[in-house]
Amino acid sequence: MSADARRPLIAGNWKMHKTIAETRALLRELRAYPLPAGIDVVVAPPFTALVAASEELHGTAIGLGAQTMHEGEHGAYTGEISPLMLHEIGVRWVILGHSERRATCNESDAGVNRKVRSALAHGLTPIVAVGESEGEHRRGETHAIVVAQTRAAFANIEPDEVARCVVAYEPIWAIGTGLIDDPANANAVIAEIRASVAGLERARILYGGSMKGDNAAALMAQSDIDGGLIGGASLKAESFLAVIEAAAPRAGAT
Ligand code: 13P
Repeated sequence: MSADARRPLIAGNWKMHKTIAETRALLRELRAYPLPAGIDVVVAPPFTALVAASEELHGTAIGLGAQTMHEGEHGAYTGEISPLMLHEIGVRWVILGHSERRATCNESDAGVNRKVRSALAHGLTPIVAVGESEGEHRRGETHAIVVAQTRAAFANIEPDEVARCVVAYEPIWAIGTGLIDDPANANAVIAEIRASVAGLERARILYGGSMKGDNAAALMAQSDIDGGLIGGASLKAESFLAVIEAAAPRAGAT
């Protein structure tokens, strides 16, 4: 594995937050800050703010992501957005299969797989979210659930293509709750995810779920955790930069 293959990645999932004006203001703050070397930083604002975000990020090292997409290029899909539309405005990353979309928009494992293939075919890097519910966690089903979700997401995709993708392990019970998974436990789950599909040994796998400046260093110190998918703490420059700074010691360490 090249030293760069698992370069740390900190991605902000803004969810349904921020108007265009708020997006511009936050990105102006972020882009004024000299980011540590050796780390990739991505933000994923809502669809309505993506064009403004693309303008604000032009010429910076901060990547632009979307929070979902439809797998088709165009068609009679009211309310959907295609990878062509995203790519046209400078989006190069897309979060797929987030647990909130699996729960509220009926996203299935097979649907996530179609979207992953489409994203790859259209020059977008998928950030595939997997994770178990609190009940599954309590019943000791975590490994079975996340391995099944991961295998389904990457079904029939060549290992070299899989290696270009990112996976985010987000235990659902840790999202927005302030409770993080124990770093060693999260690392063990992520190692299982990594071993479950050929190509993931070279891919970046992130942790997500209440990751913040004060717990990010402990998570990033784990051998298999290559970064974070950050919700709440990505909504303010200060808290997002604190996570980025906590990831800095890992840059170049893989
Ligand atoms: P929080 O960081 O707010 O827990 O959200 C995590 C998440 O769902 C990122 O996709």
